[in-house]
Amino acid sequence: DFDTFDISEELGFLLEEPLSNLPDYYRVWMDLANNLTHLIESCKLRDLVHKMPVLSPHLLSNHRELRLAHLALGFISMGYVWQEGQHAPAQILPKSLAWPYWLVSRRLGLPPILTYADSVLANWKLKDPTGDMEIENMDLIFSFPGGESCRGFFIVSLLVEMAASSGITGALEVMRAMKILDLIGIQKGLAKVTQSLKKMKETFKLMHNHVDPTAFHGTLRIFVSGWRDNPMLPRGLLYEGVSNEPILLSGGSAAQSSAIQCFDALLCIQHEDETGAFLTRMRDYMPPAHRQLIETLSVCPSLRDFILSQASSDLCQAYNSCVSALVDLRNYHLNTVTKYVIVPGNQARAMGCPLRGVGTALNKTGTGGSSIMVFLKSVRNTTQKPLILEK
Ligand code: HEM
Ligand code: ALA
Repeated sequence: DFDTFDISEELGFLLEEPLSNLPDYYRVWMDLANNLTHLIESCKLRDLVHKMPVLSPHLLSNHRELRLAHLALGFISMGYVWQEGQHAPAQILPKSLAWPYWLVSRRLGLPPILTYADSVLANWKLKDPTGDMEIENMDLIFSFPGGESCRGFFIVSLLVEMAASSGITGALEVMRAMKILDLIGIQKGLAKVTQSLKKMKETFKLMHNHVDPTAFHGTLRIFVSGWRDNPMLPRGLLYEGVSNEPILLSGGSAAQSSAIQCFDALLCIQHEDETGAFLTRMRDYMPPAHRQLIETLSVCPSLRDFILSQASSDLCQAYNSCVSALVDLRNYHLNTVTKYVIVPGNQARAMGCPLRGVGTALNKTGTGGSSIMVFLKSVRNTTQKPLILEK
C-alpha cells in the first residue's frame, strides 16, 4: 500500500530525503533559486531570467530530480511574477521558464505552478543530517522573502503534515479491517487517526513562535499567490512557447494537502456545492499517487453506515472522537487564519493609502483562491454533520 500511494509510514506524504542539487547542466536554475530572496529584494530576478537559456529537461532522470526541478522552477516563477509586488505582476512567463516547467510538470502529473507538494513536501533538509526532524534542526531548500517567518511557515506546515503520517497509517488499517469485518481493528485504527489529529493541532501551535503575522501577510503571502481567482491576474498567465492563451492556475495552499482530504474520505465527510468543488479541484495540485489514496478511500463502502449498522457504542465513540478531533483542528485553523490573514489585512487597510485598495482583495481571498471565511466555515460545519447521536 505504502508504495502504491508513494507514502512512507514515518513521513506520510513528505518526500523522503529530497535532493538539493541537480546535474551541472541545470546550474543556472539552481543559482537563481538558491539566491532568490536576494534577487527579488534587489529587483534583479526578472533581468536574469530574461538572459537565461532554454534548457531541456531530458537530463532529469528520476522522481526526486524532477521534484527538485519542479520546486526550483516554481520558486523562480513565483519570484518572477511577483517581484514588483502585487500591483505589477508579470503577465508572461518567459519561455526559458515556461517550456521546461511545462515538460517537467507533465512528467510529474503536477500543474506548472508552485504547489504545496513543492514548497512544503519537497522543500526541506536537515541542518545536522544525523539529528532529528525537529524545527530547530530543519531548513528550507529554497526561500522567499520573509526571513524566519518564511522558514517557520513552511517548516511548521511540514511538521503538521508529518504528524498526519500515523493517521494515514490508521486510515489504511481501518480500510483493511472493514474488509474483514474486524471491529476491534476498526476501533484501533480510528483511535490512531484521532491521536494523529490531536498531534497535528499541537504541532500547529508552533506557528505562533515562528511566524510573524505582519511578515507573513505583508511579505511572504504574495509569493504563493497564483493566477486563478486572483483579481491581480484575472486572465491568468501566458506561458510563452507553450500556449497562445493565458492559463489559469491556483496559488499554493495547504488546501492541496492530501492528508486532511484522506481523513474526510475515511470518515465520510462530504463537502458540497462550491466548497466541495474547490476541494476536489485542489486534488489536481497533488501528486497523482497521493490523489489516488483519497480516491481509493472515497470509493470504499461507507464506514459511517457500517458503524450505524453495528450499533456498538464503543465503535460509535471511536468514530465520534475522530470527527470531533477533526472539527477541533479546523476550528484551530480558522482562528489562526484570522490572526495571520484577516487581522493584518484590516490593519493594512486602516493605515493604508487608497491606492493600495486592491490589496484588500487578497484579504478575502486565500492564496488558493477561495473566499476564505465563507469557505472555511462551510468546511468546518460540514465536518460536524456526520457525528453519530447516540440514543
Ligand atoms: C485552507 C490559511 C496553515 C491546512 C486554507 C485557506 C486559507 C488558509 C486562507 C483557504 C484556502 C485558500 O484559498 O488558500 C492558512 C494560514 C496558515 C495555514 C494563514 C498559517 C499561518 C495550515 C496548516 C495546515 C493547513 C499548517 C495543515 C494541516 C489547510 C487545509 C485547508 C486550508 C486542509 C483546506 C480546508 C480544509 O480542508 O479545512 N488555509 N493556513 N493550513 N488549510 Fe490552511
Ligand atoms: N493559503 C494561505 C493563505 O491564503 C497561505 O494565506
